[in-house]
Amino acid sequence: MQKDFLWGGAIAAHQVEGAYDEAGKGLSIADVMTKGDVDTPREITDGVLPTKYYPNHQAIDFYHHYQEDVDLFAEMNFKCLRISIAWSRIFPNGDETEPNEAGLEFYDQLFAYMKERQIEPVVTLSHFEMPYYLVEHYGGWRNRRMIEFFTRFAKVVIERYQNLVKYWLTFNEINNQSLTENPIFAFTNSGLIFKDGDKRDQLMYQAAHYEFVAAAKVVQFAHQLNSNLMVGCMVAASPYYPNTCNPEDILKAQAMNRGQYFFSDVQAWGYYPKYILKHWEKSGIKLDITDDDLKTIAAETVDYIGFSYYLTSTVSSDPKLEKIGSGNAAGTDTVLNPYLKKSAWGWTIDPLGLRYYLNEMTDRYHLPLFIVENGYGAKDHISADGKIHDDDRINYLKEHIIQMKKAIEEDGAEVLGYTVWGCIDLVSFTTGEMKKRYGMIYVDVDDNGKGSFKRSKKDSFDWYQKVIATNGEEL
Ligand code: BG6
Repeated sequence: MQKDFLWGGAIAAHQVEGAYDEAGKGLSIADVMTKGDVDTPREITDGVLPTKYYPNHQAIDFYHHYQEDVDLFAEMNFKCLRISIAWSRIFPNGDETEPNEAGLEFYDQLFAYMKERQIEPVVTLSHFEMPYYLVEHYGGWRNRRMIEFFTRFAKVVIERYQNLVKYWLTFNEINNQSLTENPIFAFTNSGLIFKDGDKRDQLMYQAAHYEFVAAAKVVQFAHQLNSNLMVGCMVAASPYYPNTCNPEDILKAQAMNRGQYFFSDVQAWGYYPKYILKHWEKSGIKLDITDDDLKTIAAETVDYIGFSYYLTSTVSSDPKLEKIGSGNAAGTDTVLNPYLKKSAWGWTIDPLGLRYYLNEMTDRYHLPLFIVENGYGAKDHISADGKIHDDDRINYLKEHIIQMKKAIEEDGAEVLGYTVWGCIDLVSFTTGEMKKRYGMIYVDVDDNGKGSFKRSKKDSFDWYQKVIATNGEEL
């Protein structure tokens, strides 16, 4: 492993910060999502309703605990921490021309503190966040004006933090929205609320197009401002395996993989691949795409590909096989993979899939890769000795790191870093639960927001500390 490998952890503003209405912050889309569970989807309400519970309003209160939390990350030897900036702290409604200084000051302090602790920030501009006002008044990314609002926000923060932040990511898991059958992704990726009669795929591709244009403008701006800056795209790795060697299964898996790769293809290659143009033609999808847009997308492409990796999915052309959803970004058209175990939330566990995906991405893009999320969501049990012995989490991480190392050392992938998702317990994105915990640091708060908010170390804390100290030699 290279000496400057960026070991660390990852969190997102809405899942940790809390303080949802402090220091001039506006409502964000995450603030109108209620708590669900493994069987009940989160509800997206029309504004904040007094009768509902919104877990992101206080989350783990990182806003007031960030020093203590960064100290713990430093103790774990983190080289980097992936965070995101809450857009509605900076532009509370989203369409203002001047930013909210108090919002900017919070991140001034956070980045300064991280620098003191020698932790490099990796910053996502939009991690399932946008001011809710933009949804209400502009319909989210169905509206071209979002390009202007987003780039204004991005320019303000990139300019302000350019000397503290080198690594930037534009839209978190931009490809999740392709799963239009699940309305949560369209909302969290793009602020889209589908109405009856909406052509969901058409709207989704339109939103993605505006996001590609906005992201390309951000890459261009960052490069012109400061040649040290690196801007990546961010996708959810969701490789689809064919269920059998039946060529029909192989073709189906290929088509589904293209549906996912599309989002990084455009941002890495700078043009729309032919397969998608054909798909649009066949499906009668007509988009607002101008020549200027295409020039913008072509002008500057991303410096690296950031991705999250949790699971793989398996697809079959056989209509008789039972369909199962297998978690995040998998979709519903997937079948059981008998070779893989699952987490309690039904997410397949497939460390070899990480090696496979790293190799696929390397061959496709010849760009540096950054694993900006990988982790194990599970219930924690406090043992009689008062500690959390999270061996399953340690095993999960260990097995994935082994496969990452093989991809780097034996297969030739270039990987900038690895950040453990939810390095401190946080609010689950898909379910809004606290009990689905990813952390190496436990936070005493439950699904109803009750608890002392005290932080404590799990066994995985000491384990990861050693992994980083030995640059991945001791697992
Ligand atoms: C990714 C997101 O989808 O997976 C994170 O980028 C999210 O925001 C993570 O938390 C894990 O998903 P969940 O639903 O288990 O929190």
